[in-house]
Amino acid sequence: MAFETIIVEVEDHVALIRLNRPDALNALNTQLLSELCTALEEADANDKVRCVIVTGSEKAFAAGADIKEMSSMSFAEVFATNLFADPSDRLMKIRKPVIAAVAGYALGGGCELAMACDFIIAADTAKFGQPEINLGVIPGLGGTQRLTRFVGKSKSMEMNLTGRFMDAEEAERAGLVSRVVPAKKLMEEAQGTAQKIAEKSQPTVMAVKESVNRSYETTLNEGILFERRVFHSMFATEDQKEGMAAFMEKRQPQFRDK
Ligand code: CAA
Repeated sequence: MAFETIIVEVEDHVALIRLNRPDALNALNTQLLSELCTALEEADANDKVRCVIVTGSEKAFAAGADIKEMSSMSFAEVFATNLFADPSDRLMKIRKPVIAAVAGYALGGGCELAMACDFIIAADTAKFGQPEINLGVIPGLGGTQRLTRFVGKSKSMEMNLTGRFMDAEEAERAGLVSRVVPAKKLMEEAQGTAQKIAEKSQPTVMAVKESVNRSYETTLNEGILFERRVFHSMFATEDQKEGMAAFMEKRQPQFRDK
């Protein structure tokens, strides 16, 4: 499908999705969110793709939902259309791993989009924030919920109440991002990480994603049980036999996704 607000490239089993509204700092308008979800669904369904990277520009991952598009909307309109419910639901259904590679601003919906990915690699230029309070609204794509789970109540409350930005170093310290790399190396590092994941057994990768995400949705005991049952089920795969045989034979495993 031809896209106007994103650029998609598939190379070496990795789909790279670049948000591309440079004049609006990649603000997430309806079209961009719809195209992004479609591109993610296409990557999920494409046998050649084993990992996805979502990124923006050097200046902005995304500076939030499109304020110009939202500014004149009424309550009746946003309620009736259930604004942001569709992209939120569609993002949650992607089963392949999605890495957010973030440089520059990741604000409002941009920060929320990065958090909806499976993990975040940040350039040292990254700035995260939930400045919706300055617009007289609150986050609408998970900012009060996911940020709290990432960084804890105190920091989330402060960020959401003041709208202040967090730099990359603080974001790493607080557990929002998995690691920080020099801006010039961001895409190289993200690609390298995606390649590492692409080499693993695909059913195992999906089982990890599902199990880690389950930890958000359930009690510890239920989560541990879920994990153990999924762990048991991995013994039905040929890749478990291959992975363990390769270890004992001191060679690299040849996974076949079976
Ligand atoms: N929506 C629409 N347009 C935006 C935008 C946004 N979220 N963010 C930036 N832009 C536009 C600007 O209007 C400007 O366009 P014009 O040249 O036509 O005026 C262009 O992008 C460049 O932006 P600035 O001139 O403001 O660039 P700057 O470097 O001076 O400032 C910034 C950068 C601090 C990120 C500033 O643009 C800013 O504060 N943006 C808004 C951030 C924000 O409030 N995000 C939350 C949005 S609401 C939301 O996301 C709800 C939700 O939870 C889903």
